[in-house]
Amino acid sequence: MQRTVNGVTIAYTDEGEGPPLVFVHGFPLSRDCWRPQIDAFRLSHRCIAPDLRGFGESEATAGPVPMDTYADDLARLLEALGTGPAVLIGHSMGGYVTFAFARRHPEMLDGLVLVGTRAGRDTPEAAAGRKATAETVQAHGVADVIDSMAAKMLAPDNRDERMMQKVRGFMESASPAGVAGALLGMAERPDSTPYLDAVTVPTLVITGLDDVIIPPGESQDIAAAITGSELQAIQDAGHLVAFEQADDFNQVLREWLAGAQLVSP
Ligand code: MLT
Repeated sequence: MQRTVNGVTIAYTDEGEGPPLVFVHGFPLSRDCWRPQIDAFRLSHRCIAPDLRGFGESEATAGPVPMDTYADDLARLLEALGTGPAVLIGHSMGGYVTFAFARRHPEMLDGLVLVGTRAGRDTPEAAAGRKATAETVQAHGVADVIDSMAAKMLAPDNRDERMMQKVRGFMESASPAGVAGALLGMAERPDSTPYLDAVTVPTLVITGLDDVIIPPGESQDIAAAITGSELQAIQDAGHLVAFEQADDFNQVLREWLAGAQLVSP
């Protein structure tokens, strides 16, 4: 499905009925990575998974894409779909977008699930690295970024040929403009740490214990800073924990949704 919102055409999945869950993918992925969650939750919840602008089947725009812009795209999409307040489930860069959404659209938020993400901003070195990579992508395309991200996404024990092919499949529709825009947007993103103690919605923080892209300590820090939040660390999982250990991830999410009464009455 597709809708034009906030000046851009966004492709999205919308399956099931019940309280809305919005799945926000990381970099340089697409909504396809959430298929195990959509299949598991569409019987109890309305599951919405967009491709962020420039990724998957969504339109790309030129220039840096601030996290606020992705967040506003989501807010306009949810308004267009008439969902009412939703639980946002953000993975990695999707977590940065989720923090921006929580700041800008608090009235549209019923709960937060922060997966393999961090609250802090980039170091100057990391930001400079992203800007250099964005230039390379604009000149030579996305292949090197996909190779380097695919190599690190999974826990070492999960890097078999079948899993690696699927991961690459989640990434290969990313456009150069989309990847460069996200890199520049991430490089400029604000520090969300000061905001954490203002979070009042139920919050679940999930990490893969073997995540080498955003180590589990970042999730521990987020959970420690959000009053009443729950932290779950999943074994035998790397950065793409929801895909690598889908059953464990889904069970953790289902139990938390029930405990937070984010289920149909
Ligand atoms: C992601 O998976 O979304 C990215 O690794 C996040 C980042 O580069 O900071």
